[in-house]
Formats: sequence, C-alpha cells, structure tokens
Amino acid sequence: MTQAGHLRPDPSRRIVLGVGGGIAAYKACEVLRRLVEAGHQVRVVPTESALRFVGAPTWEALSGLLVHHDVFGDVPEVPHVRLGQTADLVLVAPATADLLARAAHGRAEDLLGAILLTARCPVLLVPAMHTEMWEHPATVHNVAVLRSRGTLVARPASGRLTGADSGAGRLPEPAEIVDLATLLLRRADALPPDLTDRHVVVSAGGTREPLDPVRYLGNRSSGRQGYALARVAAQRGARVTLVAAHTPALADPAGVEVVRVGTAGQLQEAVLTATPRADAVVMAAAVADFRPADPHPSKIKKVGSDPDPVSLVVNPDIVAELVRRRPRGQVVVGFAAETGDATGDVLTHGRAKLARKGCDLLVVNAVGEGGAFEAEHNSGWLLGDDGAETELPEGPKSLLAAYVWDAVAARLKR
Ligand code: CTP
Repeated sequence: MTQAGHLRPDPSRRIVLGVGGGIAAYKACEVLRRLVEAGHQVRVVPTESALRFVGAPTWEALSGLLVHHDVFGDVPEVPHVRLGQTADLVLVAPATADLLARAAHGRAEDLLGAILLTARCPVLLVPAMHTEMWEHPATVHNVAVLRSRGTLVARPASGRLTGADSGAGRLPEPAEIVDLATLLLRRADALPPDLTDRHVVVSAGGTREPLDPVRYLGNRSSGRQGYALARVAAQRGARVTLVAAHTPALADPAGVEVVRVGTAGQLQEAVLTATPRADAVVMAAAVADFRPADPHPSKIKKVGSDPDPVSLVVNPDIVAELVRRRPRGQVVVGFAAETGDATGDVLTHGRAKLARKGCDLLVVNAVGEGGAFEAEHNSGWLLGDDGAETELPEGPKSLLAAYVWDAVAARLKR
C-alpha cells in the first residue's frame, strides 16, 4: 500500500500574479480576488501596457500591496530579484502573444520579465489573444520553447473573443485559472505534458431518468470531479471529450469538447460513440442503476388519483460494457462512491467492485457525512487491478484528478 502524499492545505502562499496588456486583464481582477480570499499573499506585477487596461489602484486595492511594473521602483528592496526568488507560484494571466515572445527570449526589461528569470517555483502562463495570433508559427514556436524549459503554458479556451469573432485564444474562466494555480501550489508536478497526443473520454455529472415530463429520478452528483478530470487532462496535453449529464453550474473546461446528455441511455450512447479509439476512459458520472419502466407521456396529476407504485427496470452497466468492448491498451477507470456497512468498510466494497467491474483502476470515495457529493474537496483510494492501492490525500478535486492521470499515463507508457 503506498501513500500518494502527505500534503496538508496550506492557506497562505506567496503568489506573483503577472498581468499582460490584453483586454482580458479585467478578468485577472477576479482571479486576484479569489486568490486573496483563499488566504494567499498575491503581489500583482502588471506590464506597462496592462496598466492601460486596468490601473494600479485597482490591483493595489484588491491585493492590499503596492504595485510596480518596472525594475526601478522600490529599488532598496530589489523586488526584481526577490519577488521571483521567494514566490511559491508565478501565474501570468493574461499572457499576450508579445509577453510569450519576450518570455521565450528571456527578456528582462520590465519587472515581470525579471521575475520570470529569477523564479524557481512553478510558472504558469495563461494565454489570451486572437486565434490568428495563437495559431501563428511564431507563437507556436515560443510556446514550444517555453514548454521545453518546464514553463507551463495553459491551453486557452475557445469561444467569444473581443468583438464579434470567436475561436481558440480566450482566457479560461477565472475559477478555472484559480483551480490550476491551487493545484500547482499543492503539487508542483501536477501538470506534466504526459497526455500529449492522447484522446481521453471522461463522463461527469448525474443522469436523470424521467417519471413524466416534469419529474425524474436523479442523484446528487454535481459533476465537479469529472470536470476537474477533464480540465487536468486537457492541461496535460490530451484531447478530451467530456460527456456531461446535468452540470448547469459548471463552465466548460478550456480546450475540452463537451457532449451534453440527460439519461443513462444517452450517456451510454455518447460514451460508446466517443471511446472506440480513445486511449483512456474515466467514468466519473453517477449513472442511475434503475429507470422508471413506463415514464408517463403527460404530467402525473395528484387530484382524483391514488399514486401508482413506480416500477423500475435496470439500466445497462456502461463501465462493464466498456470493459467488454475495449480495444487493446485502452485504460478504463471507474469510480465507486461507497459507505461502509455491516458487510464491510469502504475499501472492502471498493476492492470487490474493482474485481466485479473488471476495470483497470477504480477510485473509491467515502460518501455520506459531507463526503464527495457537491463538495469542493475530495479524497479516497485509487485501486489498481495489479493490487496497487494508493491513498489519495484530501484536497481539491483537481488534485485527485492529477493522481488518477498519473496512474493512467503510467499504464499508457507500458
Ligand atoms: N456505472 C456505469 N453504469 C451504470 C452504473 C454505474 O457505468 N449503470 C459506473 C459509474 O460511472 C462508476 C462505476 O460504474 O464508474 C461504479 O458505479 P456504482 O454506482 O458505484 O456501481 P454499481 O455497480 O451500481 O454498484 P452499487 O451496487 O454499489 O450501486
């Protein structure tokens, strides 16, 4: 039995938030607010052109710290060296095409450039620019150079850009940026490019089985764990298909194709359509085991009728079908939300489920008493069909996702 880590939540870390000169700079205010609310000390370092979009007083009010952008401010404190050396994380959002170019060349004519050269902590650049600029060979080259040096360059989102155009190059949502930053503070090595050129399918959320046009049998799954899996896989380089059942509260993760479904039958169809050539499939969705045998075509009325008992039929077991159909080398990961009972504890039930389902890996979460459902944090065990058992430390759902992808990537390498 191995321990995946003994990391404890560390509420206050030193973050440098670099801000490039793009219109998305206004979204960095929200990133800053969330990081400060989480208890971190965030020093904002805008470029000169970023200050034309959002002024220093805004950054100073939100961070509670003075803002400099050139290397000649606050000289006795030598911030151009000290800020990079002492940071736990350098996050740049938005990173413009120009900023990526300067970083790739190691330019240090402003404070942010100097910080990027002195930082020894994880550095995450979150690009935002027009699609043409993102796809230009110069930018593609700069991103490759930066990544080859270990700098993390996030995948941008697709969607509406400034003005009427849309495409790849949009800044990911502030919540997503903060989630990636939080993940790196917990595990500096959580986003290696080990899923590059892989296609992975993730299911998320909870299915709803209609009783009539307005009522359904459902469950409490929010979809957060599946979305975290999709987000982390995309940032580790994978092409990701996310099959999402009822996740209205969640924004699409950057760089992920989202297929929306309602019932277990629809989820089954979407997953089976996406997986024949996929490298891995992770079934994080809570799939209803049963569905009403005869959903009413019209709303069931209360007046003048005694309620009919609802008869149920069994839904297909999708994970079992995936295991039956899987091509050679495809990694199948199941989830098991368990409560202990008289017949065994959570792990005993998990081990039995892994054997019953025949998947390669099974994530076991303890549920009830506030665990797993709707929560921001998760913990559990990762069981392998080779007998490996790894404890997954309590932390954000993206941290659990990182451990799952570690295990998947290790199997894909074999
Ligand atoms: N699952 C599935 N198809 C179903 C039900 C569940 O593919 N009809 C998947 C889930 O997505 C999850 C795994 O199977 O990855 C385990 O789900 P769970 O509900 O715990 O499994 P069950 O076989 O229904 O076991 P239990 O009797 O404990 O409910």
